[in-house]
Amino acid sequence: MKVHKYGDYDEYVREQSAANKQKLHSVWANPTELEIVSRHVEQTIPNASFGICHGVRNGWEVQWLRDRLKIDIIGTELAETATNYPHVIQWDFHNTKDEWIGHCDFIYSNAWDHSYDPETCLDKWMSCLKPTGRCFIEWSEEASSKIDRVDCFGASKDECSQLISKKFDIEKVYTIPFTWREVVKRLFQLGRVRVEWRVARRVVFVVKHRNAKDKSKP
Ligand SMILES: C[S@@+](CC[C@H](N)C(=O)[O-])C[C@H]1O[C@@H](n2cnc3c(N)ncnc32)[C@H](O)[C@@H]1O
Repeated sequence: MKVHKYGDYDEYVREQSAANKQKLHSVWANPTELEIVSRHVEQTIPNASFGICHGVRNGWEVQWLRDRLKIDIIGTELAETATNYPHVIQWDFHNTKDEWIGHCDFIYSNAWDHSYDPETCLDKWMSCLKPTGRCFIEWSEEASSKIDRVDCFGASKDECSQLISKKFDIEKVYTIPFTWREVVKRLFQLGRVRVEWRVARRVVFVVKHRNAKDKSKP
């Protein structure tokens, strides 16, 4: 597991913001993954009403999940560009708001690899969940292989799994399929946004508190 060391916090914000502006109209999130997340939310958290997506750039996944789940979902984005997008706030995902603590049904992020302190970051995210809540964290092969000033946290799937399991339970690990159906969905997405078209093995960890309640069971 590797974490890039920044000179100071301002440097972190500068590097992330510069990369954000370069790729402002690109989308890494993919609909197959978001559909898997949505189904898991519906099955395990039937009365979900509030979710947060962390590190959302132009907020594409926020809007997708809002349309799909029909609940209140907001996104966080470190860069000042956040204010251009509905339901996205300019916010460092290493921090929490008082009103989020214990009030969130789910958190989704494909940006954990942008954390300068992944363990604290996960602790903060988990502190926001209701006892029935789930945190969905994407890991991709790309995120494991290299670190730099932007993708500052690199870990293998096993290392991520160990880090999460230090304090929390992994309920499930979804492997995100890359099938022809997925290619067609990505092409459809491409008509509306600039898709980040890199083929990377992706998985999603579904994380819950130890002894978390499971509402889907009587
Ligand atoms: C890999 S991009 C993913 C963007 C988006 N989720 C997508 O699927 O296209 C990571 C995003 O997280 C943002 N980010 C990085 N560090 C952050 C932080 N500490 N808090 C909030 N957002 C952050 C970056 O500016 C960038 O827009």
